[in-house]
Amino acid sequence: MMKKQRTVPIEMNPGAFRTIGHHLVDRIADLLDSLPEHPVTTGEAPPDIRKALDASRLLPDIGTDPAQLMNHATDLLFDHSLFNSHPRFWGYITSAAAPIGILGDLLASAINQNTGAWFLSPMASEIEAQTVRWIAELLGFPTDCGGLLVSGGNMANIVCFLAARQAKAGWDVRVIGLHGSKAQQLRIYCSKETHTWVQKAADMTGIGTNNIRWIPTDKELRMDIEILRDQIRADKKTGEQPFIVIGTAGSVSTGAIDDLAEILKICREEELWFHVDGAYGGFAAMLPDASPELRALSQADSVAVDPHKWLYAPLEAGCALVRDPEKLREAFAYHPPYYHFGVEAINYLDYGPQNSRGFRALKVWLALQQAGRKGYEQMLADDIQLAKTLHELVAQELELEAFTYSLSITTFRYVPSDLKITSDSVEEYLNQLNTELLTRLQNSGEAYLSNAVIDGKFTLRACIVNFRTSLADIEALPEIVLRIGREVDAELRPERLDIKG
Ligand SMILES: Cc1ncc(COP(=O)(O)O)c(C=O)c1O
Repeated sequence: MMKKQRTVPIEMNPGAFRTIGHHLVDRIADLLDSLPEHPVTTGEAPPDIRKALDASRLLPDIGTDPAQLMNHATDLLFDHSLFNSHPRFWGYITSAAAPIGILGDLLASAINQNTGAWFLSPMASEIEAQTVRWIAELLGFPTDCGGLLVSGGNMANIVCFLAARQAKAGWDVRVIGLHGSKAQQLRIYCSKETHTWVQKAADMTGIGTNNIRWIPTDKELRMDIEILRDQIRADKKTGEQPFIVIGTAGSVSTGAIDDLAEILKICREEELWFHVDGAYGGFAAMLPDASPELRALSQADSVAVDPHKWLYAPLEAGCALVRDPEKLREAFAYHPPYYHFGVEAINYLDYGPQNSRGFRALKVWLALQQAGRKGYEQMLADDIQLAKTLHELVAQELELEAFTYSLSITTFRYVPSDLKITSDSVEEYLNQLNTELLTRLQNSGEAYLSNAVIDGKFTLRACIVNFRTSLADIEALPEIVLRIGREVDAELRPERLDIKG
């Protein structure tokens, strides 16, 4: 028979919660303090990680002491992770996590609000609305826009894309769907440098990746505006239906910024939805010296930005902004009979694909206030300056070839001094050499870069979205790359390499 009072195995008494929690916070504080002494990553292979985890162990029938469990989980993660909060992590576009965001996530979990509906999360929903307004304010976007927090850049872009599809298709896509000859004529325009989210968007929305017009780029890897204009006009002439142009504010590979002001003009002339993917570089529009090309994102119909990139929020936090809030509701809202909310307030389930939603905004809201606008301007400007300094340092080294520099991304490669004169076989070898160099550098734990392929050349890529990186860290990098580069070259260089003048 069931007792009047339940004893449940998942509960934790307040004393235990306090002790375990304090211990965890102590360990996290120690880790953050000691990060520079750790390798960025242990570079272990999948079998090593599975072994450390004891991955084949079956689910236990009987429960385990929570203090022991938390210690074990902390050991596993501290001993076998790549630390993207390490001062020398410059891979991909993954930022160091703001400590206040770490605490914010703990608080958000403790309150466990369902921000799908306002009445289930009154304060949390209002904090999210305020966070969206503040983000819009940073970008110069109207603060009465529609917007919400999502998992990241992909979802933020896809949410905006869905709003565009419904607004511009010319029929009710949500009801009728995408089939028939009209549907097959919808066209998407973006540069060849656009992040792969656009393929997922075209694919998941049923439009199809064949309907993406990949517009070539100029020598700075920005969308070629003349080709864009000509392509739209040519497509319209043959009865196709352009509906969206996507400009990128900071491309994933090199940080290139499309001329958003010119794209805006074309979109207005041709009555197309203008979306800006600002997942990486959008926040740079807050800087006092931001270019007019970048600032024009404030005029777009929609913008995606990623607080888990350049606002240093712990994963996950993306943000979709749509100028006309009604366009978001028209793309997502349904009113089933089992929802009776009663209050006139924002119900986020009407603004995006999720129903039950967590409280992602809290960590962003806290960080925005801790640093303030000026604090963020300073941190972004410093990241940009560090990338610029790296570019200059690399350019001074005889055996390093500097490629691009934009926002906080610098690209370069290792070129042994006797291989300066290129031929196809030299280029092929340099790609092989730099690919291996990158793998070894990543596994070494000394610093972490990723790569960009520019005109078929494999380059090393440093992207600094890291408030822990100092000038000393940047100054140390060329020497590390040169050492590993020389070592790899000595091992890999083919005996006969066709070096032509
Ligand atoms: C320009 C751009 N768009 C979209 C994304 C996707 O963002 P997320 O990885 O947060 O989904 C990225 C990621 O690096 C990006 O750089």
